[in-house]
Amino acid sequence: MLPLLLDCDPGIDDAVALCLAAGCPDVQLVGVTTVAGNHILERTTRNARAVLALAGAAVPVTAGCDRPLLRQLCIAPEIHGETGLGNGPPPVSDVSSVPLLGGHAANRIVEVVRSRPGEVTLVATGPLTNVALALRLDPGLPDAVAGVVVMGGATTRGNTTPAAEFNIYVDPEAAAMVFAAPWSVTMVGLDVTHQARCTPDHQRLLAATGPVGAYLAGLLDEYRSGGAGGEDPAMHDPVAMAAAIRPGLLRTEPAAVVVETTGAATAGMTVVDFDAGSAAPAGVPVHRVGTTLDVEGFWALLLDAVARLDGRPPDGRSSDGRSSDGRSSDGRDQRVADRVVERVADA
Ligand code: BDR
Ligand code: CA
Repeated sequence: MLPLLLDCDPGIDDAVALCLAAGCPDVQLVGVTTVAGNHILERTTRNARAVLALAGAAVPVTAGCDRPLLRQLCIAPEIHGETGLGNGPPPVSDVSSVPLLGGHAANRIVEVVRSRPGEVTLVATGPLTNVALALRLDPGLPDAVAGVVVMGGATTRGNTTPAAEFNIYVDPEAAAMVFAAPWSVTMVGLDVTHQARCTPDHQRLLAATGPVGAYLAGLLDEYRSGGAGGEDPAMHDPVAMAAAIRPGLLRTEPAAVVVETTGAATAGMTVVDFDAGSAAPAGVPVHRVGTTLDVEGFWALLLDAVARLDGRPPDGRSSDGRSSDGRSSDGRDQRVADRVVERVADA
């Protein structure tokens, strides 16, 4: 079992990443910490608990920073809806089955990692405020984690400004601390997450697994309407989670990464120096920057995990060949499902 600690700001795609971790049989989700980002902290914390309750995963949640280290918080209701999980009711109204721990997320990160030295992989899918504070509390943290995977940044263009991706843009100072620390971050930026678009076919397969999949598919409808130009939504946070669970799905290249904190037009930009990857000066950490994703492998992993939460086979069909919502699969659904089943069988 792979022990994972997720720091997140749910957030529609964070919710999918949570379900991926909760449903994957090789993952032990040892804790969830929350940060302000897609919505205010109170909301991201409640959303995390509601999604875990939906998934039937009583993983303890710890709230962290309610604002970036130095800047004003900016949230993203235009993408993630008024509640951070769209505009509808929460998936579960009674979240008491999911414990909310006292204390601060930064301490919790240190505590969980230190409790199992060299074993815990830290996945961050929100602004890096909690992670930066954890590093400040415990500068030895990099030696104690098994790995760190960050959804954030881009090597080309941003999604919040021309230069910056949202998670890094919200708290560039925190991100700068995280990328300057002596560890090798797996950076899952927009260049990679834009390779995993949620098509209507994928959404139908997700919806067919049962109540959890149907809820996520509904959320993704709202995510789609919040996207630019009606594009299929990019599965940012689930891709980062998948890269933590199955590193082989992601091709990476070594690079030095500096986060711009002072530029008037470029704050939050990740300046990725692939040339320095193989010959970084002493003291400059070399990170692993994602370049190419095995997209079908990603979908196979995600659909399998959600199907398990729903107690269903991963192809969304019952033995009579009909989907679990009673519809016959159309040809395209069928082809996607067949490929997914093959990949699950290969895994
Ligand atoms: C990132 O920003 C957030 O809105 C998403 O949850 C994701 O973590 C993508 O830029
Ligand atoms: Ca997020």
